[in-house]
Amino acid sequence: MTQLTFPEGFLWGTATASYQIEGAVAEGGRGPSIWDTFSDTPGKTWRGQTGRVACDHYHRLDEDVALMASLGVDSYRFSIAWPRIQPDGTGPANPEGLDFYDRLVDRLVAAGIKPMPTLYHWDLPQGFEDRGGWPARETAERFGEYAAIVGGRLSDRVHTWWTLNEPWCSAFLGYGNGHHAPGRTEPAAALAAAHHLNLAHGLAVQSLRAAGAERVSIALNPTQCRGDEEAARIADGLANRVFFDPILKGEYPVDMMERTAHHTDWSFVRDGDLEQINQRIDLLGVNYYNPTWFRVNPDAPESPVQPGSAGIETWTPEGLEFTDMGWPIAPSGLTDLLVRLHKDYGVPTMITENGAAYPTGPGEDGEVNDVERVAYLRSHIAAVHDAIEAGADVRGYTAWSLMDNFEWAFGYDKRFGIVHVDYATQKRTPKASAKFYANVIAANGLDR
Ligand code: NOJ
Repeated sequence: MTQLTFPEGFLWGTATASYQIEGAVAEGGRGPSIWDTFSDTPGKTWRGQTGRVACDHYHRLDEDVALMASLGVDSYRFSIAWPRIQPDGTGPANPEGLDFYDRLVDRLVAAGIKPMPTLYHWDLPQGFEDRGGWPARETAERFGEYAAIVGGRLSDRVHTWWTLNEPWCSAFLGYGNGHHAPGRTEPAAALAAAHHLNLAHGLAVQSLRAAGAERVSIALNPTQCRGDEEAARIADGLANRVFFDPILKGEYPVDMMERTAHHTDWSFVRDGDLEQINQRIDLLGVNYYNPTWFRVNPDAPESPVQPGSAGIETWTPEGLEFTDMGWPIAPSGLTDLLVRLHKDYGVPTMITENGAAYPTGPGEDGEVNDVERVAYLRSHIAAVHDAIEAGADVRGYTAWSLMDNFEWAFGYDKRFGIVHVDYATQKRTPKASAKFYANVIAANGLDR
């Protein structure tokens, strides 16, 4: 067995998102979001479940911060619900909404945990969707104003800001295949959404810096593309470089624009937009769960989540194991991804999400012995160490998620928490994986 030790100052955290844990959707002056509307629409989520109550975190903030403190985490990535701050999407800030996050940030600081808020983790105020949603430029422009409001209130205590979480999902699941809110299936709109999300990011970075933010970043979910080189390169353009290149290099990839030309001429990219998007960021947040394999097949139709992908398709090799999401387990994908980001973009990274869904609940003794999740976390944390040894500048690791929560279209059926939640009683029970993770944090490393 080898002991793997992480660099000094490496940050160990956990993460959640507002709609997945808060509940209290009609309290504190919060307005409706696209996820309220979507999950209230029959057939959109597992058993029609919604985030109306979720983990009731809105009323259990102190308990949840104490829970994190008991694990010894250095940082907590949570998200701010835009509809709590601007209930109908524009206009002055709702003081009760700001107070809630102000209190959360204060409690975290008092517990010695670095606050890392995400400004947008998918709960768009419904008012914006009514006016066109992310395919409309106004949404991006207003996002810059929202960032200024929140930045002005919290920047003095925030360690790192994340502008957006996984804009790929917002654009291509929200407007491509419609599996996420708002549930639209319009490829051209999905591509316009991707651009306006990039623009929203750039505007928010500027607002946050003006408000005195110390570190600003974005959490992306790069597809770790494997398989034959040509197919993987195409997929990389459509899924990754469409975000990486404007954000980190100030340009859209030509191959991606050509492949999507039958949907749009990209005229929504106005003069000056790329400069607005290409703002200096302090590091890049990486959400990683699994790789995806691609191959060329001239007969393959375009995938609704990947406009421009006709002629390539995904496949999965034999012999892999899968999590409860049906996602293949391949830790080396995380190493490869981190090394690639280091080589191609020279940017420091932080793992902003990594984890696995497994259904394990309490046994007769009340303990939750989630051995598969322990194995998943162990192998993936080791994979991060491999990337650091290969030269990547990785600043931290964040386990998704602090606790079981509303897994979007899968409702409460899928459990990602290192802490178990009994939704009938709201009892939190740290699983074996939480204890394992607490030991990793205490040792700043693990055995392999
Ligand atoms: C990515 C998302 O950011 C998060 O909200 C989700 O629960 C996890 N992945 C797991 O699917």
